[in-house]
Amino acid sequence: MKRKILVIGSGGREHALCKKLLESPKVEEVFCAKGNAGMALDGIQVVAIDEDNHEELIAFAKKEAISWVLVGPEVPLMNGIVDDFEAAGIKAFGPKKSAAMIEGSKEFAKELMSEFQIPTAKYQSFSDSQLAFAYVEKQQLPIVIKADGLAAGKGVVIAETLSEAKEALKEMLDDNLFQNETPKVVIEEFLVGREFSLLSFVGQSGIYPMVAAKDHKAIFDGDKGPNTGGMGAYSPVDYVTEEVESIVFEDIIKPTVAGMAAKGTPFTGILYTGLILTDEGPKVIEYNARFGDPETQVLLERLDSDFSEVIESLLMNDTPEIKWKQDGVTLGVVVAAKGYPSEYEKNVLIPELTTDDETKVFYSGVTKKEDELISSGGRVFLVAQSATTKEEAHENAYSWLENQGLENFYYRKDIGKTV
Ligand code: AMP
Ligand code: GLY
Repeated sequence: MKRKILVIGSGGREHALCKKLLESPKVEEVFCAKGNAGMALDGIQVVAIDEDNHEELIAFAKKEAISWVLVGPEVPLMNGIVDDFEAAGIKAFGPKKSAAMIEGSKEFAKELMSEFQIPTAKYQSFSDSQLAFAYVEKQQLPIVIKADGLAAGKGVVIAETLSEAKEALKEMLDDNLFQNETPKVVIEEFLVGREFSLLSFVGQSGIYPMVAAKDHKAIFDGDKGPNTGGMGAYSPVDYVTEEVESIVFEDIIKPTVAGMAAKGTPFTGILYTGLILTDEGPKVIEYNARFGDPETQVLLERLDSDFSEVIESLLMNDTPEIKWKQDGVTLGVVVAAKGYPSEYEKNVLIPELTTDDETKVFYSGVTKKEDELISSGGRVFLVAQSATTKEEAHENAYSWLENQGLENFYYRKDIGKTV
Protein backbone atom coordinates (compact mmCIF):
# COMPACT_ATOMS: atom_id res chain seq x y z
CA MET A 1 0.00 0.00 0.00
CA LYS A 2 1.29 3.43 -0.86
CA ARG A 3 2.04 5.87 1.96
CA LYS A 4 -0.08 8.81 3.02
CA ILE A 5 2.02 11.25 4.99
CA LEU A 6 1.10 14.21 7.18
CA VAL A 7 3.66 17.00 7.60
CA ILE A 8 3.17 19.57 10.37
CA GLY A 9 4.14 23.19 9.68
CA SER A 10 3.54 25.91 7.13
CA GLY A 11 6.84 27.37 5.93
CA GLY A 12 9.42 26.93 3.18
CA ARG A 13 11.04 24.12 5.14
CA GLU A 14 7.75 22.18 5.14
CA HIS A 15 7.23 22.93 1.44
CA ALA A 16 10.63 21.33 0.76
CA LEU A 17 9.90 18.34 3.04
CA CYS A 18 6.54 17.70 1.35
CA LYS A 19 7.92 18.12 -2.16
CA LYS A 20 10.75 15.68 -1.52
CA LEU A 21 8.35 13.14 0.02
CA LEU A 22 6.07 13.39 -3.02
CA GLU A 23 8.96 12.45 -5.32
CA SER A 24 8.84 8.90 -3.95
CA PRO A 25 6.97 6.28 -6.01
CA LYS A 26 5.95 4.78 -2.66
CA VAL A 27 4.03 7.89 -1.61
CA GLU A 28 0.43 8.39 -2.62
CA GLU A 29 -0.41 11.66 -0.89
CA VAL A 30 1.26 14.29 1.25
CA PHE A 31 -0.84 16.48 3.52
CA CYS A 32 0.51 19.58 5.21
CA ALA A 33 -1.14 21.24 8.24
CA LYS A 34 -1.51 24.05 8.12
CA GLY A 35 0.56 24.43 4.99
CA ASN A 36 0.39 27.44 2.67
CA ALA A 37 -1.25 28.31 -0.62
CA GLY A 38 2.05 28.03 -2.55
CA MET A 39 2.41 24.35 -1.67
CA ALA A 40 -0.80 23.50 -3.51
CA LEU A 41 0.96 24.39 -6.80
CA ASP A 42 3.12 21.29 -6.23
CA GLY A 43 0.24 18.93 -5.54
CA ILE A 44 0.60 19.03 -1.75
CA GLN A 45 -2.75 18.73 0.09
CA VAL A 46 -3.11 21.74 2.34
CA VAL A 47 -5.05 21.00 5.56
CA ALA A 48 -6.60 23.89 7.51
CA ILE A 49 -5.77 22.67 11.03
CA ASP A 50 -3.50 24.69 13.33
CA GLU A 51 -0.29 23.02 14.44
CA ASP A 52 -1.23 23.43 18.11
CA ASN A 53 -4.54 21.63 17.72
CA HIS A 54 -3.24 18.15 18.49
CA GLU A 55 -6.71 16.68 18.94
CA GLU A 56 -7.92 17.67 15.48
CA LEU A 57 -4.63 16.66 13.88
CA ILE A 58 -4.93 13.20 15.45
CA ALA A 59 -8.55 12.90 14.31
CA PHE A 60 -7.49 13.92 10.79
CA ALA A 61 -4.62 11.40 10.75
CA LYS A 62 -7.00 8.63 11.80
CA LYS A 63 -9.67 9.59 9.30
CA GLU A 64 -7.17 9.65 6.41
CA ALA A 65 -5.31 6.52 7.61
CA ILE A 66 -2.03 8.45 7.62
CA SER A 67 1.03 6.14 7.54
CA TRP A 68 3.13 8.50 9.68
CA VAL A 69 3.68 12.13 10.59
CA LEU A 70 6.74 14.33 10.10
CA VAL A 71 6.96 17.41 12.32
CA GLY A 72 8.68 20.56 10.97
CA PRO A 73 8.65 23.37 13.59
CA GLU A 74 9.87 23.44 17.18
CA VAL A 75 6.75 24.71 18.93
CA PRO A 76 4.60 21.60 18.37
CA LEU A 77 7.58 19.41 19.33
CA MET A 78 7.94 21.29 22.59
CA ASN A 79 4.21 21.02 23.14
CA GLY A 80 4.53 17.23 22.98
CA ILE A 81 2.94 16.58 19.60
CA VAL A 82 5.05 13.44 19.06
CA ASP A 83 4.02 12.10 22.50
CA ASP A 84 0.37 12.80 21.65
CA PHE A 85 0.47 11.12 18.22
CA GLU A 86 2.22 8.09 19.71
CA ALA A 87 -0.33 7.86 22.51
CA ALA A 88 -2.98 7.77 19.80
CA GLY A 89 -1.15 4.91 18.03
CA ILE A 90 0.20 7.06 15.16
CA LYS A 91 3.90 7.04 14.33
CA ALA A 92 5.52 10.48 14.28
CA PHE A 93 9.11 11.41 13.44
CA GLY A 94 10.62 13.93 15.83
CA PRO A 95 11.74 14.12 19.47
CA LYS A 96 9.35 13.75 22.37
CA LYS A 97 8.63 16.79 24.50
CA SER A 98 11.32 15.87 27.05
CA ALA A 99 14.02 15.59 24.35
CA ALA A 100 12.90 18.75 22.50
CA MET A 101 14.25 20.57 25.58
CA ILE A 102 17.62 20.49 23.86
CA GLU A 103 16.26 23.34 21.74
CA GLY A 104 13.64 24.69 24.15
CA SER A 105 16.04 25.54 26.96
CA LYS A 106 19.47 27.06 26.38
CA GLU A 107 20.30 26.24 30.00
CA PHE A 108 19.42 22.56 29.53
CA ALA A 109 21.61 22.49 26.39
CA LYS A 110 24.55 24.18 28.14
CA GLU A 111 24.31 21.80 31.12
CA LEU A 112 24.26 18.83 28.76
CA MET A 113 27.38 20.10 26.98
CA SER A 114 29.21 20.76 30.20
CA GLU A 115 28.27 17.36 31.68
CA PHE A 116 29.42 15.45 28.58
CA GLN A 117 32.43 17.66 27.69
CA ILE A 118 31.02 18.83 24.39
CA PRO A 119 32.99 21.81 23.04
CA THR A 120 31.03 25.06 23.36
CA ALA A 121 31.44 28.66 24.55
CA LYS A 122 32.06 29.16 28.29
CA TYR A 123 28.91 30.31 30.05
CA GLN A 124 26.94 31.06 33.18
CA SER A 125 23.19 31.34 33.62
CA PHE A 126 21.32 33.96 35.62
CA SER A 127 17.79 34.92 36.59
CA ASP A 128 18.78 38.05 38.53
CA SER A 129 19.70 41.01 36.34
CA GLN A 130 21.97 42.62 38.98
CA LEU A 131 24.04 39.45 39.38
CA ALA A 132 24.09 39.02 35.62
CA PHE A 133 25.35 42.54 35.11
CA ALA A 134 28.03 42.17 37.77
CA TYR A 135 29.22 39.06 35.90
CA VAL A 136 29.21 40.80 32.51
CA GLU A 137 31.34 43.64 33.90
CA LYS A 138 34.14 41.16 34.55
CA GLN A 139 34.00 39.55 31.09
CA GLN A 140 35.50 40.51 27.77
CA LEU A 141 33.40 42.25 25.15
CA PRO A 142 31.65 41.45 22.90
CA ILE A 143 29.57 39.12 25.02
CA VAL A 144 26.64 36.93 24.01
CA ILE A 145 23.36 37.05 25.94
CA LYS A 146 20.74 34.39 25.22
CA ALA A 147 17.22 34.20 26.60
CA ASP A 148 16.39 30.78 27.98
CA GLY A 149 13.29 29.38 26.29
CA LEU A 150 11.87 29.96 22.85
CA ALA A 151 12.23 33.43 21.37
CA ALA A 152 11.48 32.93 17.66
CA GLY A 153 15.09 33.56 16.67
CA LYS A 154 15.19 36.91 18.48
CA GLY A 155 16.58 35.75 21.83
CA VAL A 156 20.28 36.27 21.14
CA VAL A 157 22.04 39.61 21.65
CA ILE A 158 25.71 40.10 20.85
CA ALA A 159 26.55 43.07 23.05
CA GLU A 160 29.52 45.16 21.90
CA THR A 161 29.29 47.53 24.88
CA LEU A 162 28.34 47.28 28.54
CA SER A 163 25.30 49.47 28.02
CA GLU A 164 24.04 47.17 25.24
CA ALA A 165 24.54 44.22 27.58
CA LYS A 166 22.69 46.00 30.38
CA GLU A 167 19.79 46.88 28.08
CA ALA A 168 19.50 43.27 26.87
CA LEU A 169 19.58 41.92 30.43
CA LYS A 170 16.92 44.40 31.51
CA GLU A 171 14.65 43.43 28.59
CA MET A 172 15.09 39.69 29.01
CA LEU A 173 15.02 39.49 32.82
CA ASP A 174 13.30 42.55 34.34
CA ASP A 175 10.81 43.15 31.51
CA ASN A 176 10.50 39.43 30.64
CA LEU A 177 10.36 40.30 26.93
CA PHE A 178 9.82 36.69 25.86
CA GLN A 179 7.16 36.02 28.50
CA ASN A 180 8.72 32.97 30.07
CA GLU A 181 7.37 31.61 33.33
CA THR A 182 10.69 32.23 35.04
CA PRO A 183 12.88 34.48 32.88
CA LYS A 184 16.47 33.32 32.68
CA VAL A 185 19.49 34.09 30.51
CA VAL A 186 22.62 32.28 29.49
CA ILE A 187 25.63 34.59 29.15
CA GLU A 188 28.39 33.18 27.05
CA GLU A 189 31.77 33.92 25.59
CA PHE A 190 31.81 35.33 22.03
CA LEU A 191 33.33 32.78 19.66
CA VAL A 192 35.32 33.89 16.65
CA GLY A 193 35.29 31.75 13.52
CA ARG A 194 33.19 30.56 10.62
CA GLU A 195 29.65 29.38 11.18
CA PHE A 196 27.98 26.30 9.73
CA SER A 197 25.16 23.87 10.47
CA LEU A 198 25.36 20.10 10.56
CA LEU A 199 22.08 18.24 10.80
CA SER A 200 21.70 14.54 11.54
CA PHE A 201 18.95 11.98 11.22
CA VAL A 202 18.77 10.28 14.62
CA GLY A 203 16.93 7.00 15.08
CA GLN A 204 17.24 4.03 17.38
CA SER A 205 19.33 2.32 14.69
CA GLY A 206 21.96 5.06 14.70
CA ILE A 207 22.99 8.60 13.84
CA TYR A 208 23.26 9.62 10.18
CA PRO A 209 24.78 13.06 9.57
CA MET A 210 23.78 15.11 6.54
CA VAL A 211 26.05 17.32 4.45
CA ALA A 212 27.09 20.62 6.06
CA ALA A 213 25.12 23.76 5.25
CA LYS A 214 25.68 27.47 5.78
CA ASP A 215 22.84 29.80 6.72
CA HIS A 216 23.04 33.59 6.27
CA LYS A 217 21.08 34.98 9.20
CA ALA A 218 21.59 38.75 9.00
CA ILE A 219 19.17 40.87 6.96
CA PHE A 220 21.72 42.93 5.00
CA ASP A 221 24.63 42.15 2.69
CA GLY A 222 27.96 41.59 4.38
CA ASP A 223 26.13 39.84 7.28
CA LYS A 224 25.08 43.24 8.66
CA GLY A 225 21.95 44.26 10.51
CA PRO A 226 19.57 42.35 12.75
CA ASN A 227 19.23 38.59 12.59
CA THR A 228 16.30 37.06 10.72
CA GLY A 229 14.94 33.55 10.38
CA GLY A 230 17.57 33.11 7.62
CA MET A 231 18.08 34.99 4.32
CA GLY A 232 19.73 32.22 2.33
CA ALA A 233 21.82 29.08 2.58
CA TYR A 234 24.07 26.79 0.62
CA SER A 235 25.43 23.26 0.83
CA PRO A 236 28.01 21.73 0.88
CA VAL A 237 30.35 24.19 2.65
CA ASP A 238 33.97 24.36 1.40
CA TYR A 239 35.56 25.00 4.83
CA VAL A 240 33.78 22.05 6.41
CA THR A 241 36.27 19.42 5.34
CA GLU A 242 35.88 15.68 5.95
CA GLU A 243 38.19 16.11 8.92
CA VAL A 244 35.99 18.81 10.45
CA GLU A 245 32.91 16.68 9.80
CA SER A 246 34.45 13.73 11.54
CA ILE A 247 35.49 15.85 14.56
CA VAL A 248 31.94 17.19 14.82
CA PHE A 249 30.54 13.68 14.58
CA GLU A 250 32.87 12.09 17.13
CA ASP A 251 33.26 14.93 19.64
CA ILE A 252 29.89 16.65 19.38
CA ILE A 253 27.05 14.71 17.76
CA LYS A 254 27.77 11.26 19.22
CA PRO A 255 28.24 12.49 22.82
CA THR A 256 25.15 14.71 22.47
CA VAL A 257 22.94 11.77 21.50
CA ALA A 258 24.57 9.51 24.11
CA GLY A 259 24.21 12.25 26.74
CA MET A 260 20.51 12.69 26.00
CA ALA A 261 19.98 8.95 26.43
CA ALA A 262 22.03 8.93 29.65
CA LYS A 263 19.88 11.74 31.04
CA GLY A 264 16.73 9.70 30.41
CA THR A 265 15.58 11.91 27.52
CA PRO A 266 16.65 9.87 24.47
CA PHE A 267 16.61 11.92 21.28
CA THR A 268 15.17 10.74 17.98
CA GLY A 269 14.34 12.97 15.04
CA ILE A 270 16.49 15.61 13.43
CA LEU A 271 19.32 16.95 15.56
CA TYR A 272 20.50 20.31 14.26
CA THR A 273 23.88 21.47 15.53
CA GLY A 274 24.79 25.10 14.86
CA LEU A 275 28.58 25.41 15.04
CA ILE A 276 31.46 27.84 14.82
CA LEU A 277 34.76 26.62 13.44
CA THR A 278 37.19 28.32 15.84
CA ASP A 279 41.00 28.13 16.01
CA GLU A 280 40.50 25.46 18.66
CA GLY A 281 38.15 23.44 16.45
CA PRO A 282 34.37 23.32 16.04
CA LYS A 283 32.22 24.47 18.97
CA VAL A 284 28.45 24.35 19.44
CA ILE A 285 26.49 27.60 19.46
CA GLU A 286 23.03 26.07 19.40
CA TYR A 287 21.01 22.92 19.09
CA ASN A 288 17.70 22.65 17.34
CA ALA A 289 15.42 19.64 17.60
CA ARG A 290 14.26 19.83 13.98
CA PHE A 291 15.18 20.61 10.39
CA GLY A 292 16.56 24.13 9.88
CA ASP A 293 14.93 26.76 7.72
CA PRO A 294 16.29 27.68 5.12
CA GLU A 295 18.92 24.89 5.29
CA THR A 296 16.35 22.18 4.53
CA GLN A 297 15.38 23.77 1.22
CA VAL A 298 18.95 23.36 -0.04
CA LEU A 299 19.88 20.16 1.84
CA LEU A 300 17.05 18.07 0.44
CA GLU A 301 18.17 19.02 -3.07
CA ARG A 302 21.45 17.26 -2.21
CA LEU A 303 19.74 14.03 -1.11
CA ASP A 304 19.90 11.30 -3.75
CA SER A 305 17.82 8.73 -1.82
CA ASP A 306 14.10 8.26 -1.40
CA PHE A 307 13.35 10.62 1.51
CA SER A 308 10.16 8.83 2.51
CA GLU A 309 12.13 5.56 2.72
CA VAL A 310 14.72 7.25 4.95
CA ILE A 311 12.10 8.44 7.45
CA GLU A 312 10.16 5.16 7.28
CA SER A 313 13.34 3.15 8.02
CA LEU A 314 14.16 5.39 10.97
CA LEU A 315 10.62 5.01 12.34
CA MET A 316 10.95 1.20 12.00
CA ASN A 317 14.36 1.25 13.75
CA ASP A 318 16.02 0.00 10.55
CA THR A 319 19.18 1.34 8.94
CA PRO A 320 18.21 3.84 6.24
CA GLU A 321 19.93 4.05 2.87
CA ILE A 322 21.12 7.65 2.60
CA LYS A 323 23.09 8.88 -0.39
CA TRP A 324 24.15 12.46 -0.98
CA LYS A 325 25.06 14.00 -4.32
CA GLN A 326 28.82 13.94 -4.63
CA ASP A 327 29.15 16.83 -7.08
CA GLY A 328 27.89 20.37 -7.25
CA VAL A 329 26.40 22.88 -4.88
CA THR A 330 22.85 24.01 -4.08
CA LEU A 331 22.35 27.62 -3.07
CA GLY A 332 19.12 29.23 -1.91
CA VAL A 333 18.14 32.90 -1.70
CA VAL A 334 15.19 34.02 0.44
CA VAL A 335 12.88 36.63 -1.04
CA ALA A 336 11.36 38.69 1.78
CA ALA A 337 8.79 41.43 2.22
CA LYS A 338 10.17 44.98 2.26
CA GLY A 339 10.76 46.05 5.87
CA TYR A 340 11.40 42.51 7.23
CA PRO A 341 12.44 41.64 9.98
CA SER A 342 10.76 44.74 11.46
CA GLU A 343 7.30 45.91 10.40
CA TYR A 344 6.92 44.66 6.83
CA GLU A 345 4.59 45.00 3.83
CA LYS A 346 1.86 42.42 3.32
CA ASN A 347 -0.56 41.45 0.55
CA VAL A 348 1.98 42.12 -2.20
CA LEU A 349 1.23 40.27 -5.44
CA ILE A 350 3.75 37.53 -6.20
CA PRO A 351 4.51 37.23 -9.92
CA GLU A 352 4.27 33.82 -11.59
CA LEU A 353 7.68 32.24 -11.14
CA THR A 354 9.41 30.06 -13.71
CA THR A 355 11.13 26.89 -12.49
CA ASP A 356 13.09 23.99 -13.99
CA ASP A 357 15.14 20.99 -12.80
CA GLU A 358 17.90 23.21 -11.41
CA THR A 359 15.63 25.98 -10.11
CA LYS A 360 13.16 25.17 -7.33
CA VAL A 361 10.81 27.50 -5.48
CA PHE A 362 9.66 26.89 -1.90
CA TYR A 363 6.93 29.16 -0.55
CA SER A 364 6.63 30.35 3.05
CA GLY A 365 4.63 33.51 3.87
CA VAL A 366 2.04 33.38 1.10
CA THR A 367 -1.72 33.19 0.79
CA LYS A 368 -4.23 33.17 -2.03
CA LYS A 369 -6.41 36.05 -3.13
CA GLU A 370 -8.84 35.12 -5.83
CA ASP A 371 -6.57 33.17 -8.18
CA GLU A 372 -3.30 34.85 -7.30
CA LEU A 373 -0.62 34.36 -4.67
CA ILE A 374 0.04 37.32 -2.39
CA SER A 375 2.53 37.71 0.44
CA SER A 376 1.41 37.24 4.04
CA GLY A 377 4.68 36.81 5.95
CA GLY A 378 8.17 38.31 6.24
CA ARG A 379 9.91 35.55 4.36
CA VAL A 380 7.91 34.93 1.19
CA PHE A 381 9.76 32.24 -0.76
CA LEU A 382 13.18 30.78 -1.41
CA VAL A 383 14.67 29.97 -4.78
CA ALA A 384 17.13 27.05 -4.73
CA GLN A 385 19.61 26.75 -7.54
CA SER A 386 21.81 23.71 -8.14
CA ALA A 387 24.97 24.02 -10.24
CA THR A 388 28.49 22.64 -10.59
CA THR A 389 30.09 25.28 -8.36
CA LYS A 390 28.92 27.69 -5.68
CA GLU A 391 29.84 30.64 -7.93
CA GLU A 392 27.77 29.27 -10.77
CA ALA A 393 24.81 28.56 -8.46
CA HIS A 394 25.12 32.14 -7.17
CA GLU A 395 25.21 33.64 -10.68
CA ASN A 396 22.27 31.53 -11.88
CA ALA A 397 20.15 32.25 -8.79
CA TYR A 398 20.66 36.00 -9.16
CA SER A 399 20.06 36.15 -12.89
CA TRP A 400 16.85 34.17 -12.30
CA LEU A 401 15.81 36.60 -9.51
CA GLU A 402 16.41 39.62 -11.75
CA ASN A 403 14.06 38.18 -14.37
CA GLN A 404 11.04 37.47 -12.18
CA GLY A 405 9.70 40.99 -11.60
CA LEU A 406 10.48 41.14 -7.88
CA GLU A 407 10.85 44.93 -7.52
CA ASN A 408 8.34 44.94 -4.66
CA PHE A 409 10.38 42.48 -2.59
CA TYR A 410 13.77 42.39 -0.86
CA TYR A 411 16.58 39.85 -1.06
CA ARG A 412 20.26 39.82 -0.16
CA LYS A 413 22.63 40.07 -3.10
CA ASP A 414 25.55 38.18 -1.56
CA ILE A 415 24.32 34.73 -0.53
CA GLY A 416 27.27 32.36 -0.87
CA LYS A 417 29.76 35.22 -1.09
CA THR A 418 30.44 35.94 2.60
CA VAL A 419 31.61 33.56 5.32
P1 AMP B 1 21.35 31.31 17.90
O1 AMP B 1 19.94 31.82 17.95
O2 AMP B 1 21.81 30.63 19.14
O3 AMP B 1 21.61 30.56 16.63
O4 AMP B 1 22.27 32.59 17.73
C1 AMP B 1 22.05 33.51 16.70
C2 AMP B 1 23.37 33.91 16.11
O5 AMP B 1 24.17 34.53 17.10
C3 AMP B 1 24.19 32.74 15.61
O6 AMP B 1 23.85 32.39 14.33
C4 AMP B 1 25.59 33.30 15.70
O7 AMP B 1 25.89 34.07 14.56
C5 AMP B 1 25.53 34.21 16.89
N1 AMP B 1 26.06 33.56 18.10
C6 AMP B 1 25.39 32.83 18.99
N2 AMP B 1 26.20 32.41 19.99
C7 AMP B 1 27.42 32.90 19.72
C8 AMP B 1 28.69 32.84 20.36
N3 AMP B 1 28.87 32.23 21.52
N4 AMP B 1 29.72 33.47 19.79
C9 AMP B 1 29.57 34.14 18.62
N5 AMP B 1 28.40 34.25 17.97
C10 AMP B 1 27.34 33.64 18.50
N1 GLY C 1 18.39 28.25 10.15
C1 GLY C 1 18.30 28.30 11.54
C2 GLY C 1 17.15 27.65 12.13
O1 GLY C 1 16.39 26.95 11.49
O2 GLY C 1 16.95 27.79 13.33
